[in-house]
Amino acid sequence: MMNTQNIFLVGLMGAGKTTLGKQLAEHFQRHFYDSDQAICDKTGVSIPTIFELEGEDGFRDRESGMIDELTRLPNIVLATGGGAVLREQNRLCLQQRGVVVYLHVSPEILVERTRHDRNRPLLQVEDPLQKMRDLYQVRDPIYRAAAHIVLEVGTENHYMTFNQLLNAL
Ligand code: S3P
Repeated sequence: MMNTQNIFLVGLMGAGKTTLGKQLAEHFQRHFYDSDQAICDKTGVSIPTIFELEGEDGFRDRESGMIDELTRLPNIVLATGGGAVLREQNRLCLQQRGVVVYLHVSPEILVERTRHDRNRPLLQVEDPLQKMRDLYQVRDPIYRAAAHIVLEVGTENHYMTFNQLLNAL
């Protein structure tokens, strides 16, 4: 049991990083952070607003700064934004400062879960399923390479996920 290490959750939008992260934090009596939420708290505006004002690149710069800041904290559980693994700098922060857990879910299930979500600018497109499949194709190998643990989730049952992860840690 890696009780003293930080736990960093990665995966696509809708994978359940925040839900599972909160459960883990409670179980291990740690602080929980969500990198998107931390960016919103710091800037006082929503993720869609940041995308609108500064573009995806502007958001990614803020995300990198936040990941560097949060991964330095001791004894935390962190849910990262789905694109956090895209930059090598972020991957290094995550890999070197804690256990990286990839929550793997199929694009079909992810798109169902995020269907009515207006808070994710990348999914505000005509064909969200195609977009999710494209993101999956690019990112799945990156998540796998970055992760110390891969959790095959794929169902709605977070309770199962939680126990699977406890067994894997
Ligand atoms: C993004 C995922 C979002 C958020 C932003 C971009 C992505 O986070 O960071 O909308 O590139 O996959 P969640 O994975 O928490 O939805």
